[in-house]
Amino acid sequence: MKKQLCYILPFLMLLAASCSKQIRVSSPDKQTRVEFRLTESGAPEYCVIDNRQTVIDWSALGLQAEEQDLTQGFTLVRTDEARSSETWETVWGEERMIKDDHRELTVHLLHSSGMLVDIVFRVYDDGFAFRYVFPEQETLELTVLDEVTEYRFTADHEAWSIPWRTEYYEGLWTKAPLSAKDTMCSPVTIEMPNGAYAFVHEAALEDYPAQNLYFANGALRTYLTPWLDEHAQIIPQKAYKWLPFATPWRMVILAKDLPEMVASRIMLNLNEPCRIEDTSWIKPMKFIGIWWGMHMKSMTWEQGPIHGATTKNMERYLRFAKEHNIQAVLAEGWNLGWKTWEHFSFTEPYDDWDMDYLGNLAQELGVEIIGHNETGGNAADYEEQLEEAYAYHQAHGIHAIKTGYVSPIIRTRDGLQLNKGQSGVRHYRKIIETAANYHISIDNHEPVMPTGLQRTYPNLMSQEGVRGQEWNAWNVTGGNPASHVTILPFTRVMTGPVDYTPGVFAFENPLLPQTRVNATLMNQLGLFVCIYSPLQMACDLPENYMKHPDAFRFIEDVPCDWQRSLLVDGKIGEYCVFARQDRNSDDWYIGAVNADEPREVCVPLSMLDKNARYLATIYRDGDNADWQTNPYDYVIEQQEVQASDVLHLHMASGGGFAIRITQK
Ligand code: NOJ
Repeated sequence: MKKQLCYILPFLMLLAASCSKQIRVSSPDKQTRVEFRLTESGAPEYCVIDNRQTVIDWSALGLQAEEQDLTQGFTLVRTDEARSSETWETVWGEERMIKDDHRELTVHLLHSSGMLVDIVFRVYDDGFAFRYVFPEQETLELTVLDEVTEYRFTADHEAWSIPWRTEYYEGLWTKAPLSAKDTMCSPVTIEMPNGAYAFVHEAALEDYPAQNLYFANGALRTYLTPWLDEHAQIIPQKAYKWLPFATPWRMVILAKDLPEMVASRIMLNLNEPCRIEDTSWIKPMKFIGIWWGMHMKSMTWEQGPIHGATTKNMERYLRFAKEHNIQAVLAEGWNLGWKTWEHFSFTEPYDDWDMDYLGNLAQELGVEIIGHNETGGNAADYEEQLEEAYAYHQAHGIHAIKTGYVSPIIRTRDGLQLNKGQSGVRHYRKIIETAANYHISIDNHEPVMPTGLQRTYPNLMSQEGVRGQEWNAWNVTGGNPASHVTILPFTRVMTGPVDYTPGVFAFENPLLPQTRVNATLMNQLGLFVCIYSPLQMACDLPENYMKHPDAFRFIEDVPCDWQRSLLVDGKIGEYCVFARQDRNSDDWYIGAVNADEPREVCVPLSMLDKNARYLATIYRDGDNADWQTNPYDYVIEQQEVQASDVLHLHMASGGGFAIRITQK
């Protein structure tokens, strides 16, 4: 009898699975539940219940491929469940230890064409994710035309986003009901009732086009970035894949409030563990650079009378860095190619740049040089020079390179392509892998939107993909509004480190008098805590820092690698206050930035150790500070504090504050 049951059981289970058709998986705390079903036509769907409320109604799953319509015609083969709970250590980051606690459900489906497709769900206490997996089978390749993945939120919520064709993602984030939005870049931050939030994005984007999102028939839907034809026109094909493969994870953070949303580490957890064995050479660093001068037009990238990257200037910057606890110096415009932007060389310096001398000097001083590889969007040309370029940098003791792709459409091995299409994504990945072989970290400008790949390749340290500080240097229509930096922590920064380049100390530019940084000096200090990057640039010129050495002291002290991070208070588009604990000491740093309305905020110090006493050095806006009329008005004061204290602080229009708290 026992023997017979062994044979019958799998069939009974298969039958039961296909009859029940409704399958569910809950988060470890049981508060979030994802349900799955197949409709009459065999179309896969899911819905999400959070705290007993449906937050995402039945939403379509599936793909349209050139070979098959994989949106319906499925039957259920079987399901598998798994539970995982582990804590892992980051190489660098906002948090040293990250907990990954989730339940997993794999739904194995058989398509009427004979194709096998799995959908893997993961449910966390703070959200969920799923991906399509194509196991090894007879079919060898698939040409994806699009995904039909939907997120059918139960109401037309207000959401923060930028349009999907925003060049380099350098747009101003705007808020509007989902139904009023055109196609958006991923991520989208959604404001839900009762102060709750949803953050829709993707994780582990590898060899696949980036996700965009649009609203149609009451649901947010995925639109994959398309390939371009030989005339740089969009074609229907989105991804060319060999089987087996898995798509990136589609993920949604569900948070009861902003601090919970900011604390979510789902995206990192969904990425593969570190693939670099020895990570000891990957170092978080603050840096200054021969850079702001070019954006302010007092220097040039190209060789000439006001060339920035000269041996003489670099020597001055390296020595300044050494004196002021800045670990690295970036130099742009050191190499041939800037005159025409047609072909950059990554191994040939201009003749007023002595790489051997500077490499040796930097090593002697113990300061790193951050190399610069602007490609002008010619990714294919860069790939051809890659091994030689990285060997050259390595030979000169360079362990970090800032890359750039200034061109709305990049030239890859597959011709002109959108940088966030499959071909662009492949290119960026090749850069990171090759750089790792030469012990080089990357700060990628004009990147594809980050998706947490830095867990797998921690040498991908920072990226732009943001309307950064440089817009304040040359944007004659007003620069970045003060509200901009109060939106970024809840949108772009949620996807990974940002090379925003904080730290402007001189707000007027006689060479471009129409421009202005919409910030007070204290706001610029607050950015070092609010906008996270393990390669954190203090962007202004050394001579400007020396006009306010007392305020510059904060930049000298603030680290860029953290033990713990938390949002103390904030409202998207109005203000934010972050607290972070240094990874290498017991010190805490608190930073805040404010939009146009002056305000008072309370900062409870409950994050501090209850048994310790501390000294707080507070850098705050003066009573008359205002970004337009008086950006330089500030006060620096010290006071003893403890965990039971609450600080009351004023923030000016475009203002902010920064606090260093050291144990006594
Ligand atoms: C755009 C980058 O964002 C900026 O940082 C860089 O200076 C220029 N390109 C030149 O490469």
